[in-house]
Amino acid sequence: MIKIENLTRTYGKGEGKVTALDGVSLTINDGEMVAIIGKSGSGKSTLLNLIGGLDKPTSGQIFFGDREFGSMKDTELSEFRLKNIGFVFQFFDLIPELTAEENVLLPSRLAKNKNAGAEDIYSALDITDRVKHYPSELSGGQQQRAAIARALINSPDVILCDEPTGNLDKASGEEVMALLKRLNSEQGKTVIIVTHDQGIAEQCGRIVEISDGKII
Ligand SMILES: Nc1ncnc2c1ncn2[C@@H]1O[C@H](COP(=O)(O)OP(=O)(O)OP(=O)(O)O)[C@@H](O)[C@H]1O
Ligand SMILES: [Mg+2]
Repeated sequence: MIKIENLTRTYGKGEGKVTALDGVSLTINDGEMVAIIGKSGSGKSTLLNLIGGLDKPTSGQIFFGDREFGSMKDTELSEFRLKNIGFVFQFFDLIPELTAEENVLLPSRLAKNKNAGAEDIYSALDITDRVKHYPSELSGGQQQRAAIARALINSPDVILCDEPTGNLDKASGEEVMALLKRLNSEQGKTVIIVTHDQGIAEQCGRIVEISDGKII
């Protein structure tokens, strides 16, 4: 279970202070598929990055089961993130100098995991014949599927996606959504998707809407 309590994140100070997130509390159960929607600048990415331990709140707490992020050392948090959370970003964020396969395997190298299961992931994502290529040699959909493979390589229980279909055409976007839904329904992964696409949000089990840093 992911539980966030009274989370606030401000940037800057004085006149230029921005409250990106304003006292947000939310519980997400294991195996849920949740969409986070809201206007541009409403705080969606800020919230997702905090849930993923990529950023630290100004105040408030984030619990993954009984672990609270604020009580963990940076190295502990990095290790926890590596093993338990997979990230999928809007711009794929593959490392251009590495092949798709090297990108996918990077988190498992960092976690000192054996790469068991990589072949299965490639075949499930239909990228087996493309993994020796560099990102620039792949289509957008293939790059996003490689990014999803990378998110899955350490078998995390939680997958966080920020606009995962934002840079894909309709067909590739639907494939990516179908895949995320399968990971949720067949493997019980908790999936949290930030999106401004109502059609995508409606495919999730629950929709959480944010406005001006607050859940409405
Ligand atoms: N590093 C930063 N420094 C200052 N302000 C920031 C920073 N990151 C985000 N913000 C501000 O915080 C607010 C929330 O930003 P956030 O990126 O969470 O929005 P979002 O809902 O993801 O928007 P979008 O749909 O455009 O991606 C915005 O007003 C943004 O300008
Ligand atoms: Mg965003």
